[in-house]
Amino acid sequence: MKHYNVAVLPGDGIGLEIMGEAVKVLKAVGRKFKAEFALTEALVGGASIDANGVPLTDAVLKLALKSDAVLLGAVGGTRWEGLDYSIRPERALLALRKELGLFANLRPAKIYKDLIAASTLKPEVIDGVDLLVVRELTGGLYFGTPKGVEVLPDGTERGVNTMVYTTPEIERIARVGFEVARKRRKKLCSVDKANVLETTELWRKVVIKVGKDYPDVELSHMYVDNCAMQLIRNPKQFDVIVTENTFGDILSDEASMLTGSIGMLPSASLGATKNRAMYEPIHGSAPDIAGKGIANPIATILSVAMMLKYSFEMEEASNLIEDAVEKVLNRGYRTADIALPGEKKTTCTEMGEAVLKELA
Ligand code: IPM
Ligand code: MG
Repeated sequence: MKHYNVAVLPGDGIGLEIMGEAVKVLKAVGRKFKAEFALTEALVGGASIDANGVPLTDAVLKLALKSDAVLLGAVGGTRWEGLDYSIRPERALLALRKELGLFANLRPAKIYKDLIAASTLKPEVIDGVDLLVVRELTGGLYFGTPKGVEVLPDGTERGVNTMVYTTPEIERIARVGFEVARKRRKKLCSVDKANVLETTELWRKVVIKVGKDYPDVELSHMYVDNCAMQLIRNPKQFDVIVTENTFGDILSDEASMLTGSIGMLPSASLGATKNRAMYEPIHGSAPDIAGKGIANPIATILSVAMMLKYSFEMEEASNLIEDAVEKVLNRGYRTADIALPGEKKTTCTEMGEAVLKELA
Protein backbone atom coordinates (compact mmCIF):
# COMPACT_ATOMS: atom_id res chain seq x y z
CA MET A 1 0.00 0.00 0.00
CA LYS A 2 1.30 3.46 -0.87
CA HIS A 3 1.86 5.70 2.12
CA TYR A 4 1.97 9.49 2.03
CA ASN A 5 2.41 12.13 4.71
CA VAL A 6 0.27 15.19 4.15
CA ALA A 7 0.46 18.36 6.24
CA VAL A 8 -3.03 19.83 6.53
CA LEU A 9 -3.02 23.56 7.24
CA PRO A 10 -6.58 24.94 7.25
CA GLY A 11 -5.50 28.46 8.27
CA ASP A 12 -8.15 31.12 8.87
CA GLY A 13 -11.67 32.14 7.93
CA ILE A 14 -13.36 29.85 5.45
CA GLY A 15 -10.10 27.85 5.34
CA LEU A 16 -11.42 25.73 8.20
CA GLU A 17 -14.75 24.99 6.52
CA ILE A 18 -13.47 24.16 3.06
CA MET A 19 -10.61 22.07 4.43
CA GLY A 20 -13.07 19.87 6.32
CA GLU A 21 -14.73 18.89 3.03
CA ALA A 22 -11.46 18.48 1.13
CA VAL A 23 -10.07 16.16 3.81
CA LYS A 24 -13.19 13.98 3.60
CA VAL A 25 -12.62 13.68 -0.14
CA LEU A 26 -8.94 12.82 0.33
CA LYS A 27 -9.80 10.10 2.84
CA ALA A 28 -12.49 8.65 0.61
CA VAL A 29 -10.06 8.46 -2.29
CA GLY A 30 -7.48 6.81 -0.03
CA ARG A 31 -9.94 4.05 0.83
CA LYS A 32 -11.00 3.57 -2.74
CA PHE A 33 -7.53 3.48 -4.25
CA LYS A 34 -5.77 1.71 -1.38
CA ALA A 35 -3.43 4.56 -0.52
CA GLU A 36 -2.68 5.50 3.04
CA PHE A 37 -2.66 9.23 3.76
CA ALA A 38 -1.24 10.16 7.14
CA LEU A 39 -2.68 13.61 7.80
CA THR A 40 -1.14 15.96 10.32
CA GLU A 41 -3.10 19.11 11.00
CA ALA A 42 -1.43 22.29 12.22
CA LEU A 43 -2.07 25.99 12.75
CA VAL A 44 -0.91 28.58 10.28
CA GLY A 45 -1.62 32.27 9.61
CA GLY A 46 -3.82 34.21 12.02
CA ALA A 47 -4.70 31.06 13.95
CA SER A 48 -1.01 30.55 14.65
CA ILE A 49 -0.53 34.22 15.57
CA ASP A 50 -3.27 33.87 18.18
CA ALA A 51 -1.79 30.66 19.60
CA ASN A 52 1.95 31.25 19.18
CA GLY A 53 2.52 34.91 18.35
CA VAL A 54 3.87 34.14 14.87
CA PRO A 55 2.11 33.15 11.61
CA LEU A 56 4.40 30.16 11.01
CA THR A 57 6.25 28.34 13.77
CA ASP A 58 9.48 26.42 13.18
CA ALA A 59 7.62 23.25 14.10
CA VAL A 60 5.03 23.77 11.36
CA LEU A 61 7.71 24.68 8.84
CA LYS A 62 9.53 21.45 9.75
CA LEU A 63 6.30 19.52 9.37
CA ALA A 64 5.82 21.00 5.90
CA LEU A 65 9.41 20.20 4.95
CA LYS A 66 9.18 16.56 5.95
CA SER A 67 5.72 15.97 4.45
CA ASP A 68 5.22 14.57 0.96
CA ALA A 69 2.79 17.40 0.27
CA VAL A 70 1.07 20.31 2.01
CA LEU A 71 -2.64 21.07 1.71
CA LEU A 72 -3.45 24.63 2.69
CA GLY A 73 -6.79 26.40 3.15
CA ALA A 74 -6.40 30.17 3.36
CA VAL A 75 -4.78 32.69 5.66
CA GLY A 76 -5.58 36.18 6.83
CA GLY A 77 -8.45 38.20 8.19
CA THR A 78 -9.44 41.68 9.26
CA ARG A 79 -8.42 40.94 12.85
CA TRP A 80 -4.74 40.74 11.97
CA GLU A 81 -4.62 43.55 9.40
CA GLY A 82 -3.10 46.09 11.78
CA LEU A 83 -0.06 43.95 12.55
CA ASP A 84 3.43 44.67 11.25
CA TYR A 85 4.11 43.11 7.83
CA SER A 86 6.69 40.76 9.31
CA ILE A 87 4.10 38.93 11.41
CA ARG A 88 0.99 39.18 9.24
CA PRO A 89 -0.84 35.92 8.45
CA GLU A 90 0.17 36.23 4.77
CA ARG A 91 3.82 35.88 5.81
CA ALA A 92 3.15 32.22 6.62
CA LEU A 93 2.20 31.57 3.03
CA LEU A 94 5.15 33.50 1.64
CA ALA A 95 7.57 31.78 4.04
CA LEU A 96 6.25 28.33 3.14
CA ARG A 97 6.64 29.10 -0.55
CA LYS A 98 10.17 30.41 -0.06
CA GLU A 99 11.44 27.79 2.41
CA LEU A 100 10.03 24.90 0.40
CA GLY A 101 11.36 26.44 -2.81
CA LEU A 102 7.95 26.36 -4.48
CA PHE A 103 8.87 28.45 -7.50
CA ALA A 104 6.21 27.18 -9.90
CA ASN A 105 2.58 27.94 -9.24
CA LEU A 106 0.10 26.27 -11.58
CA ARG A 107 -3.34 27.86 -11.68
CA PRO A 108 -5.73 26.25 -14.14
CA ALA A 109 -8.90 28.06 -15.17
CA LYS A 110 -11.37 25.83 -16.89
CA ILE A 111 -14.97 26.67 -17.53
CA TYR A 112 -17.64 24.16 -16.58
CA LYS A 113 -20.53 24.05 -19.03
CA ASP A 114 -23.03 24.20 -16.19
CA LEU A 115 -21.51 27.38 -14.80
CA ILE A 116 -21.37 29.43 -17.97
CA ALA A 117 -24.35 31.45 -16.79
CA ALA A 118 -22.61 32.21 -13.49
CA SER A 119 -19.84 34.16 -15.22
CA THR A 120 -20.17 37.89 -15.72
CA LEU A 121 -18.96 37.49 -19.31
CA LYS A 122 -20.92 36.54 -22.41
CA PRO A 123 -21.38 32.77 -22.93
CA GLU A 124 -19.79 32.79 -26.39
CA VAL A 125 -16.65 34.43 -24.98
CA ILE A 126 -16.07 31.89 -22.22
CA ASP A 127 -17.56 28.65 -23.53
CA GLY A 128 -14.55 26.39 -24.01
CA VAL A 129 -12.05 28.37 -21.94
CA ASP A 130 -9.29 26.07 -20.69
CA LEU A 131 -6.12 27.88 -19.72
CA LEU A 132 -3.33 27.56 -17.22
CA VAL A 133 -1.45 30.37 -15.54
CA VAL A 134 2.09 29.41 -14.55
CA ARG A 135 3.02 32.00 -11.97
CA GLU A 136 6.62 32.37 -10.77
CA LEU A 137 6.25 32.18 -7.00
CA THR A 138 9.49 32.77 -5.13
CA GLY A 139 10.98 35.79 -6.88
CA GLY A 140 10.04 39.00 -8.59
CA LEU A 141 8.38 41.91 -6.85
CA TYR A 142 7.23 39.80 -3.90
CA PHE A 143 10.70 38.88 -2.69
CA GLY A 144 13.15 41.31 -4.28
CA THR A 145 15.34 43.51 -2.11
CA PRO A 146 15.72 46.30 -1.12
CA LYS A 147 12.22 46.41 0.32
CA GLY A 148 10.49 48.23 3.14
CA VAL A 149 9.41 51.66 4.27
CA GLU A 150 11.88 54.19 5.64
CA VAL A 151 11.39 57.57 7.24
CA LEU A 152 13.30 60.32 5.45
CA PRO A 153 15.08 63.17 7.24
CA ASP A 154 12.23 65.54 6.37
CA GLY A 155 9.74 63.23 8.10
CA THR A 156 8.12 61.92 4.92
CA GLU A 157 8.29 58.21 4.18
CA ARG A 158 9.68 56.20 1.28
CA GLY A 159 8.36 52.75 0.38
CA VAL A 160 10.36 50.37 -1.78
CA ASN A 161 9.85 46.99 -3.42
CA THR A 162 12.12 45.62 -6.08
CA MET A 163 11.37 43.38 -9.02
CA VAL A 164 14.37 41.10 -9.42
CA TYR A 165 15.00 38.05 -11.56
CA THR A 166 18.18 36.15 -12.32
CA THR A 167 18.73 34.06 -15.43
CA PRO A 168 18.43 30.69 -13.58
CA GLU A 169 15.17 31.78 -11.95
CA ILE A 170 13.66 32.68 -15.32
CA GLU A 171 15.04 29.56 -16.98
CA ARG A 172 13.49 27.13 -14.52
CA ILE A 173 10.02 28.71 -14.58
CA ALA A 174 10.16 28.96 -18.39
CA ARG A 175 10.94 25.24 -18.54
CA VAL A 176 7.92 24.45 -16.39
CA GLY A 177 5.82 26.56 -18.76
CA PHE A 178 7.12 24.76 -21.85
CA GLU A 179 6.81 21.32 -20.25
CA VAL A 180 3.17 21.78 -19.24
CA ALA A 181 2.33 23.40 -22.57
CA ARG A 182 3.77 20.32 -24.26
CA LYS A 183 1.22 18.16 -22.44
CA ARG A 184 -1.62 20.50 -23.43
CA ARG A 185 -2.28 22.40 -26.66
CA LYS A 186 1.39 23.33 -27.10
CA LYS A 187 0.96 27.08 -26.88
CA LEU A 188 2.91 29.19 -24.41
CA CYS A 189 2.37 32.90 -23.93
CA SER A 190 5.06 34.61 -21.87
CA VAL A 191 3.72 37.74 -20.20
CA ASP A 192 6.04 40.62 -19.33
CA LYS A 193 6.38 44.38 -19.42
CA ALA A 194 9.50 44.37 -21.52
CA ASN A 195 8.72 47.80 -22.98
CA VAL A 196 9.26 49.41 -19.58
CA LEU A 197 10.82 47.06 -17.03
CA GLU A 198 14.41 45.93 -17.60
CA THR A 199 14.01 42.83 -15.46
CA THR A 200 11.21 41.61 -17.71
CA GLU A 201 13.25 42.46 -20.78
CA LEU A 202 15.70 39.90 -19.43
CA TRP A 203 12.72 37.61 -18.77
CA ARG A 204 11.74 37.74 -22.43
CA LYS A 205 15.28 37.15 -23.64
CA VAL A 206 15.72 34.08 -21.43
CA VAL A 207 12.31 32.62 -22.30
CA ILE A 208 13.18 32.88 -26.01
CA LYS A 209 16.47 31.10 -25.35
CA VAL A 210 14.82 28.29 -23.39
CA GLY A 211 12.23 28.04 -26.15
CA LYS A 212 14.92 26.79 -28.53
CA ASP A 213 14.71 23.47 -26.62
CA TYR A 214 10.98 23.28 -27.29
CA PRO A 215 10.49 23.77 -31.03
CA ASP A 216 7.17 21.87 -30.80
CA VAL A 217 5.69 24.55 -28.52
CA GLU A 218 4.43 27.76 -30.11
CA LEU A 219 5.84 30.66 -28.09
CA SER A 220 4.33 34.12 -28.02
CA HIS A 221 4.92 37.22 -25.89
CA MET A 222 2.47 39.73 -24.50
CA TYR A 223 2.71 42.81 -22.31
CA VAL A 224 0.89 42.36 -19.04
CA ASP A 225 -1.55 45.23 -19.58
CA ASN A 226 -2.53 43.82 -22.95
CA CYS A 227 -2.86 40.35 -21.43
CA ALA A 228 -5.27 41.67 -18.79
CA MET A 229 -7.37 43.06 -21.62
CA GLN A 230 -7.07 39.98 -23.87
CA LEU A 231 -8.19 37.68 -21.04
CA ILE A 232 -11.54 39.45 -21.05
CA ARG A 233 -11.74 40.09 -24.78
CA ASN A 234 -10.88 36.61 -26.03
CA PRO A 235 -9.71 34.19 -23.33
CA LYS A 236 -9.86 31.20 -25.65
CA GLN A 237 -6.69 32.37 -27.40
CA PHE A 238 -4.69 31.22 -24.35
CA ASP A 239 -3.38 27.78 -23.50
CA VAL A 240 -0.51 28.32 -21.03
CA ILE A 241 0.56 31.71 -19.68
CA VAL A 242 3.92 31.99 -17.90
CA THR A 243 4.64 35.14 -15.94
CA GLU A 244 6.20 37.06 -13.07
CA ASN A 245 4.98 36.63 -9.49
CA THR A 246 2.85 39.79 -9.13
CA PHE A 247 1.60 39.69 -12.71
CA GLY A 248 0.55 36.08 -12.12
CA ASP A 249 -1.19 36.98 -8.87
CA ILE A 250 -3.31 39.56 -10.65
CA LEU A 251 -3.93 37.69 -13.90
CA SER A 252 -4.95 34.49 -12.10
CA ASP A 253 -7.62 36.33 -10.11
CA GLU A 254 -8.85 37.79 -13.36
CA ALA A 255 -8.81 34.39 -15.08
CA SER A 256 -10.81 32.90 -12.22
CA MET A 257 -13.80 35.11 -12.97
CA LEU A 258 -13.97 33.63 -16.46
CA THR A 259 -15.08 30.45 -14.75
CA GLY A 260 -17.83 32.13 -12.78
CA SER A 261 -16.25 32.25 -9.35
CA ILE A 262 -12.88 32.47 -7.69
CA GLY A 263 -14.28 29.74 -5.43
CA MET A 264 -13.66 27.20 -8.20
CA LEU A 265 -9.93 27.48 -8.83
CA PRO A 266 -7.32 25.17 -7.33
CA SER A 267 -3.56 25.57 -7.50
CA ALA A 268 -0.36 23.61 -7.18
CA SER A 269 2.89 25.16 -6.03
CA LEU A 270 5.81 22.99 -7.00
CA GLY A 271 9.51 22.96 -6.17
CA ALA A 272 12.53 21.37 -7.77
CA THR A 273 11.92 17.94 -6.25
CA LYS A 274 8.87 15.73 -5.94
CA ASN A 275 8.53 16.08 -2.17
CA ARG A 276 8.25 19.86 -2.38
CA ALA A 277 4.66 20.72 -3.14
CA MET A 278 1.80 22.70 -1.71
CA TYR A 279 -1.80 22.69 -2.88
CA GLU A 280 -4.29 25.41 -2.12
CA PRO A 281 -7.34 27.18 -3.52
CA ILE A 282 -6.42 30.49 -5.15
CA HIS A 283 -9.04 32.36 -3.15
CA GLY A 284 -8.44 33.88 0.26
CA SER A 285 -9.95 33.43 3.70
CA ALA A 286 -13.08 35.47 2.88
CA PRO A 287 -13.66 36.94 6.37
CA ASP A 288 -17.03 38.33 5.23
CA ILE A 289 -18.56 34.86 4.90
CA ALA A 290 -16.39 32.90 7.35
CA GLY A 291 -18.20 30.75 9.89
CA LYS A 292 -21.47 30.81 7.98
CA GLY A 293 -20.97 27.45 6.32
CA ILE A 294 -21.69 28.88 2.87
CA ALA A 295 -18.20 28.85 1.34
CA ASN A 296 -17.52 26.90 -1.83
CA PRO A 297 -15.22 23.93 -1.06
CA ILE A 298 -14.68 23.04 -4.73
CA ALA A 299 -11.38 24.93 -5.19
CA THR A 300 -9.89 23.02 -2.25
CA ILE A 301 -11.38 19.71 -3.38
CA LEU A 302 -9.87 20.29 -6.82
CA SER A 303 -6.57 21.14 -5.11
CA VAL A 304 -6.69 17.63 -3.62
CA ALA A 305 -7.16 16.35 -7.18
CA MET A 306 -4.06 18.27 -8.27
CA MET A 307 -2.12 16.82 -5.32
CA LEU A 308 -3.03 13.28 -6.34
CA LYS A 309 -1.93 13.98 -9.89
CA TYR A 310 1.28 15.94 -9.36
CA SER A 311 2.59 14.53 -6.07
CA PHE A 312 1.27 11.00 -5.85
CA GLU A 313 0.93 9.88 -9.46
CA MET A 314 -2.69 8.93 -8.81
CA GLU A 315 -4.02 10.25 -12.09
CA GLU A 316 -7.09 8.03 -12.08
CA ALA A 317 -8.15 9.15 -8.61
CA SER A 318 -7.49 12.75 -9.61
CA ASN A 319 -9.70 12.45 -12.69
CA LEU A 320 -12.40 10.81 -10.61
CA ILE A 321 -12.57 13.83 -8.31
CA GLU A 322 -12.72 16.21 -11.26
CA ASP A 323 -15.50 14.16 -12.81
CA ALA A 324 -17.39 14.07 -9.51
CA VAL A 325 -17.23 17.87 -9.28
CA GLU A 326 -18.52 18.18 -12.82
CA LYS A 327 -21.41 15.82 -12.10
CA VAL A 328 -22.37 17.60 -8.90
CA LEU A 329 -22.54 20.90 -10.77
CA ASN A 330 -24.56 19.18 -13.45
CA ARG A 331 -27.01 17.99 -10.81
CA GLY A 332 -27.55 21.61 -9.87
CA TYR A 333 -25.64 21.95 -6.60
CA ARG A 334 -24.65 25.60 -6.21
CA THR A 335 -22.93 27.34 -3.33
CA ALA A 336 -23.81 31.03 -2.91
CA ASP A 337 -20.91 32.24 -5.08
CA ILE A 338 -22.07 30.32 -8.15
CA ALA A 339 -25.84 30.37 -7.61
CA LEU A 340 -27.92 32.53 -9.88
CA PRO A 341 -30.67 34.65 -8.34
CA GLY A 342 -33.52 32.36 -7.34
CA GLU A 343 -31.43 29.17 -7.42
CA LYS A 344 -31.33 27.01 -4.30
CA LYS A 345 -28.11 27.52 -2.39
CA THR A 346 -26.02 24.57 -1.27
CA THR A 347 -24.01 24.83 1.94
CA CYS A 348 -20.31 24.05 2.14
CA THR A 349 -20.98 20.70 3.82
CA GLU A 350 -23.75 19.76 1.39
CA MET A 351 -21.40 20.43 -1.51
CA GLY A 352 -18.70 18.27 0.07
CA GLU A 353 -21.19 15.47 0.74
CA ALA A 354 -22.48 15.66 -2.82
CA VAL A 355 -18.96 15.19 -4.19
CA LEU A 356 -18.40 12.27 -1.80
CA LYS A 357 -21.59 10.63 -3.00
CA GLU A 358 -20.44 10.87 -6.62
CA LEU A 359 -17.11 9.34 -5.66
CA ALA A 360 -18.67 6.37 -3.93
C1 IPM B 1 -2.54 34.26 -3.74
C2 IPM B 1 -2.81 35.24 -2.64
C3 IPM B 1 -1.53 35.50 -1.87
C4 IPM B 1 -0.54 36.11 -2.83
C5 IPM B 1 -1.68 36.35 -0.62
C6 IPM B 1 -2.72 35.81 0.33
C7 IPM B 1 -0.37 36.53 0.09
O1 IPM B 1 -3.36 36.42 -3.16
O2 IPM B 1 -2.10 33.13 -3.43
O3 IPM B 1 -2.76 34.59 -4.89
O4 IPM B 1 -0.52 37.34 -3.00
O5 IPM B 1 0.25 35.37 -3.41
MG1 MG C 1 -3.78 36.31 -5.24
